[in-house]
Amino acid sequence: MKKSISGFSKLSKLGKLKWLVENFFKDPERVMKDLMSYWLHDEEKQKIIDGFSENTISNFYLPYGVAPNFLINGHTYCVPMVIEESSVVAAASSAAKFWLSRGGFQAEVLSTHKVGQIHFCWSGNDQLLYDHLDRMKEVMLNRTSNLTHNMRMRGGGIVEIALLDFSNQEPECYQLHIKFETVDSMGANFINSVLEELSEVFNKYVQEHIDSNGVEIIMSILSNYTPECLVRAAVSCRVDELGEQKGSLNAHEFARRFQKAVRIAHIDPYRATTHNKGIFNGIDAVVLATANDFRAVEACGHAYAARDGKYRSLTDCKIEDGLFKFWIEIPLAIGTTGGLTSLHPMAKRSLELLGHPDASTLMMIVASIGLAQNFAAIRSLVTTGIQHGHMRMHLINILNRLEATESEMKAAILFFKEKQVSFAAVRDYLAQLRSEAQTEDAVAIPT
Ligand code: MEV
Repeated sequence: MKKSISGFSKLSKLGKLKWLVENFFKDPERVMKDLMSYWLHDEEKQKIIDGFSENTISNFYLPYGVAPNFLINGHTYCVPMVIEESSVVAAASSAAKFWLSRGGFQAEVLSTHKVGQIHFCWSGNDQLLYDHLDRMKEVMLNRTSNLTHNMRMRGGGIVEIALLDFSNQEPECYQLHIKFETVDSMGANFINSVLEELSEVFNKYVQEHIDSNGVEIIMSILSNYTPECLVRAAVSCRVDELGEQKGSLNAHEFARRFQKAVRIAHIDPYRATTHNKGIFNGIDAVVLATANDFRAVEACGHAYAARDGKYRSLTDCKIEDGLFKFWIEIPLAIGTTGGLTSLHPMAKRSLELLGHPDASTLMMIVASIGLAQNFAAIRSLVTTGIQHGHMRMHLINILNRLEATESEMKAAILFFKEKQVSFAAVRDYLAQLRSEAQTEDAVAIPT
């Protein structure tokens, strides 16, 4: 057994796989066959997927589902969702249908700026940096104009450069805080390339005009915190239009309990984390389906949820003048061109399904899904409880694992309607059902 290796990355895909199965698995041939069974038949597409990462040996599948009936700003969308958790797509679809007949989702993009930072150390008089700032900015914009040309042609580019002083928190620490507009692309590569170039121009300027030693550039990188790339999505209706809910809850009682649940997620970070996790169930699923960066979106959303120093709900709810209002405000740095969005074969299909949206439209769709997901979760929590819906999906997963036939599925769903679902209970029920069927068959065979 050789658990370590040098030059692994240089091996062919088959070579990597062979080394792996021979050194880490008991039945190399079977495992090799298994891992290869997930390769795509279309070699071209497989090559594209392999190109996204390194040391790829196989593909890891996640379900690709759709949530229909999302009425957003008057357009109806069928929204692609990639997620492994059961009930999420069902919950989004059910919330979409609920709001379809109540005016749908109203969404607007509030701002679209992204942020890049050049962190540097400076031991000289900082007033000198401030005195030169305007001239420095001019030079920096000019000297990076080649890099920003295409983006500027599309309406984007560098929007603002500010000098920030962190030296009272960490000796000699300063930052150039740079705002970007990246139009329909998420823009990570663009921002990082421009930042690296800007940092060189900046240092050169300081060397030539302020101090020949220049500054010490520590790092140049975008910030995934983009509170000014903000979108809002909202639903509202008269309280009585909410209708009677499961558990014989009338509309007013439901609205009151719903609002309380949202308030709790504003005052208690323990609840807020679960509440926001539910929101990201929906958001991540669409972000993934469109091959956007879900880690960036998550990191930013959680930082935003803690923007006033306490981690809180990303959604809000108000009952005012007989109206139920529920909304989300969330930063979403996502794109519809560039990066994987235009490379991943399934992302291309997702964007086609959504009608080739621009980045702002995608932000509004994603925020609406997050809101819908949160609506569905809270609606379950304050009425029947979450397990009710979950258990049905859980039951179906168990039945699939036990290779239940369609008629066994139907019988089991009916049988477990009001009963606790567990793997053992379903296994025993199926065994009973199958043995009864066998007895019946035996009786039916004429002797
Ligand atoms: C489960 O993935 C998500 C929920 O826990 C969200 C919530 O509690 O609001 C149902």
